[in-house]
Amino acid sequence: MITVRVPAKVNVQLGVGGLRADGFHDLANVFFAVGLFDEVTAEPVGPGEGVTLSCTGPDAASVPLDDSNLAARAARLLAAHHGLADPGVHLHIAKAIPVAGGMAGGSADGAAALVACDALWGLATPIGTLLELAAELGSDVPFALLGGVALGRGRGEILDALPVAGTFHWVFAVADGGLSTPAVFRECDRLREEAGTGSSEADVPTPDADPALLAALASGDPVALAAALTNDLQAAALSLRPSLADTLHAGTEAGAIGALVSGSGPTCAFLAKDAESAEAIAAALRTSGTCRTAHATHGPVPGAEVGAPTA
Ligand code: C5P
Repeated sequence: MITVRVPAKVNVQLGVGGLRADGFHDLANVFFAVGLFDEVTAEPVGPGEGVTLSCTGPDAASVPLDDSNLAARAARLLAAHHGLADPGVHLHIAKAIPVAGGMAGGSADGAAALVACDALWGLATPIGTLLELAAELGSDVPFALLGGVALGRGRGEILDALPVAGTFHWVFAVADGGLSTPAVFRECDRLREEAGTGSSEADVPTPDADPALLAALASGDPVALAAALTNDLQAAALSLRPSLADTLHAGTEAGAIGALVSGSGPTCAFLAKDAESAEAIAAALRTSGTCRTAHATHGPVPGAEVGAPTA
């Protein structure tokens, strides 16, 4: 039995280019792994049972336990890559990352399943191959293998680790219900068309990483990072879920030095000046009536790694 712990991400910069012919958008995506973790446990099952799934956690009821689950797809993809005809495995997901929350929880489970099955089956797949398989599963899956802080180009899957100093303190306000990532990208395109700027690759300049943001990360300066936080999907997430403006306002009122929607939302992310302030902001958000719950945590943290289960 192998258990893998895998972190959620927040995008400290999410620059979104025009809509490509393949339906994706080119990104300048600065991923930042934070201390909110799912755990995926892989256990062998009898011959012919295939890949089975179970899930526990507050959002477990909204996690699909069929073939669409990225953890199941990851197990099958790894088995197929190695020519394993009968990959009998049960995957249990202990879920703490919000579902459809803009924190790449499903992608995290896919990455964790790759690492867990690789260890269970004794495959020792090179990391380069795991990253390629991860990219086949989804744009955010490779980053969950790496963790830390990284710049994602292309649709987000072409990664370069970024230098970062020290620890940053974060608060995440979890909404009731999720947002669909494709729907948020579509709304971003619609808003661009409505504004008259166009939404195609020819209309929108290719985004690039912000030098001020990279400098803030490298120097470990939370005030400078707070000033540089940007998310090109934020307007679209707010358009689909206007109440998120109240959440962002509540966190800022409670002392956050920076606030933004996490990825495609609806989770809102707040940067705090220190750990004590993060706890105070989380407590204020929990009683604000603008979110379901709030978590104080820190980052960066490592990507998917084998370890002992905590529960
Ligand atoms: O790669 P992933 O399966 O996570 O993407 C989900 C959806 O999000 C895509 O089908 C697409 O609609 C949208 N997307 C996008 N541009 C990206 C990443 C995702 O438009 N770079």
